[in-house]
Amino acid sequence: MTARAKRGAGKAGARASGEARAVESASAAGSKASGGAKKRAGAAGGLAKAKTNGRRHVVVTAGPTREWVDPVRYISNVSSGKMGFAVAAAAAERGWRVTLVAGPVRLETPAGVERVDVESAREMLAAVGSAFRRADAIVMAAAVADWRPARRLAGKWRAKDGGTERTTLELVRNPDVLATVARRKGRRAVIAFALETGDGERRARAKLVRKNADFIVLNDDSALNRERATVTILGRDGSARRLERRAKREVAEALVDLLDRHGDLAR
Ligand code: CTP
Repeated sequence: MTARAKRGAGKAGARASGEARAVESASAAGSKASGGAKKRAGAAGGLAKAKTNGRRHVVVTAGPTREWVDPVRYISNVSSGKMGFAVAAAAAERGWRVTLVAGPVRLETPAGVERVDVESAREMLAAVGSAFRRADAIVMAAAVADWRPARRLAGKWRAKDGGTERTTLELVRNPDVLATVARRKGRRAVIAFALETGDGERRARAKLVRKNADFIVLNDDSALNRERATVTILGRDGSARRLERRAKREVAEALVDLLDRHGDLAR
């Protein structure tokens, strides 16, 4: 929960319907979801499909999710969204049609990318579920909150509502977005991310299998909110490729290479 939540409170109210909104962005520049954007995206989506005949389509997720406690507080994490946005930009430049499902981040929409803004894990699941149905691949770089408050309070949670020195907040489990949509992935490519603080490779490989992914990008927490990252890309075939202190854009290019190769094999 952060002070920033207070500033975002009005916006949160406006989004309380829980609907993801879509924005079609031809070239630029941080166009954010606004009322009516959903309709425009629908029309533009149809157009994009007609125009992009034969292009492969990847769904990329980015950023944190935000789980509201009350009108002024939320649970979230420090993910900046940079990795997912770099993947979206690289894939679009390499000719992929890209649907970018973004949590709350302050980043501009890369050129040629269709962006859907969401807040909570449940909104992300709805947006990803519908986009992945029509797609050939998914890159799940979002840092999805595993838990959300059991209730979102209508009014502010006041200090006096707790005990004098301690209180508890009841949390319930969020859906696993990736595991849910990748369960029936067929030949489509699935790239997951894993942030681990210890025993990384073993845990990440277990996640790769559990979530039915083809590759998992193992990060440590030094990648969070930074320009550069050291990652190991683990493959379902047992492969491991380490990239040391690379710009996120370089990591993104390596992932698009994998998508291209997987797409060729699946054809
Ligand atoms: N993920 C997801 N939905 C969740 C949690 C994670 O889709 N509710 C995705 C992430 O986007 C990432 C992968 O699953 O691609 C692994 O995320 P991570 O947070 O490392 O794994 P968890 O399943 O949350 O496991 P743990 O908390 O035990 O590390």
